[in-house]
Amino acid sequence: MRSIGLWRAPAVLSLCLCLASWLSACAPDLGKCDLQLAKTIVYAPDGTPFYAGQAQVFQSCAGAFCHAAGATGAGRLGAPHNADFDTVPLGASPSAHDITVLRNGIERVRELAPSFYDRVDNGSMPPGGVGKRAPLMWLDASGAPSTTAVPLVTTSAGKEMLRNWLACDAPIVATTDPAAPQTFGDTVPAKSTTIAPSFASIYGVVLGGCTACHNADANNPYKAQQALDFTTMDAAYTTLVGPDAFANGSCKMRGKLVAAGDCAGSLLYQKLLPAAQAPAGVCGSAMPLGGQAISKAALDAVCNWIKAGAKQ
Ligand code: HEC
Repeated sequence: MRSIGLWRAPAVLSLCLCLASWLSACAPDLGKCDLQLAKTIVYAPDGTPFYAGQAQVFQSCAGAFCHAAGATGAGRLGAPHNADFDTVPLGASPSAHDITVLRNGIERVRELAPSFYDRVDNGSMPPGGVGKRAPLMWLDASGAPSTTAVPLVTTSAGKEMLRNWLACDAPIVATTDPAAPQTFGDTVPAKSTTIAPSFASIYGVVLGGCTACHNADANNPYKAQQALDFTTMDAAYTTLVGPDAFANGSCKMRGKLVAAGDCAGSLLYQKLLPAAQAPAGVCGSAMPLGGQAISKAALDAVCNWIKAGAKQ
C-alpha cells in the first residue's frame, strides 16, 4: 500500500488541528486585540455614539434590515431569526424590550465571533447586493463627516477593523445616558448634530442604507418590482429626481418620486414617513421595507432638500 503522499499532509494536519481545537473547545484565533483601537468612537448622523466595529455591524449586517430584531419578512432577506446582531446603543429611559434586543444582539455577535469573522473574511457575508451597499455617513470623534471612519466590511481596512474589534470581545457603547444602570457595555454621551439638507448628506444618511434592495444587480430579487439604483450617488440622483414612479410598480401613475419644490407631493417623502403617519392611499409599503423608519431629523432633511429644489 502506498504511504500517505505529501499532498495529503496538509489535509491530515488540518484535521488534527480541527479535532484538537474542537476537543479543547478553543475557537479559531482572531489574533491580537488593540483595545484602544477597538474603542474608537464614531457618531451616527443623529449624534448616537458607537465604537467603530459596532458601527460596522449596524452598517453591514443589522441596520433596520436582515440581522435586526425589528426586521421582518422581506426585510430579513432570508436571515434566520436566531441570528440578530442589533448593536444600537440605548438612549435615556430605554424600554425593557430595547435592552433585551441589544443584550441579545451583542451576546450573539460575541458567541459567534470566530465564524462571524470567517464569513466576512471569505466573502460569503454580507451576500450579493448587500455587500455592495455604500457606507453610511458617520461622524468621526471630532464630529466631522467622514467616509472612512467606518469602512465597509468588504474592504481590507474594514475587515481588519472588524477582526480587531471581535478579537477584543466586541466592546460596545451600550448607552448614551450616564445615569443608566447597565452591565454589558460602556456609556458614552451623544453628540448634538444637525443633518444638512443637501443631496450628499441625504445620500450618506438615508439612501446609501437602502442599497441592499435598491441596486442594479441582475440577481436582485427586488429589481422586477422597482427600478431604483442607489449604489452610487450619481445613479441615486438620476433615478430619483425627476422621473415618474416605476411603470410596473405599486406607485405607477402616482406621480414623481421627487418633485423638486414639493415635499408632500414627492413619493420618496411619502414612502419614508413611518407607516402610521403616511397619507391615506400612499402607494406600496413604507421604506425601508421591513425595517425601522428613518429618524425625524433625517426625514426633515429630506423634506427641506426637496423644498429647496432637490439640487444635486
Ligand atoms: C428589503 C428591501 C427594501 C429596502 C431595504 C428598501 N426598499 Fe424601497 N422598495 C422595495 C420594494 C420591493 C419596492 C416596490 C414595492 C413598493 O413600492 O412598496 C420598493 C419601492 C420603493 C420606492 C418606489 C419606487 C417606484 O418607482 O415605485 C421608493 C421611492 C423606495 N422604495 C425608496 C426606498 C428608500 C429611500 C429606502 C431606504 C431608506 C428603501 N426603499 C429601502 C424594497 C426595499
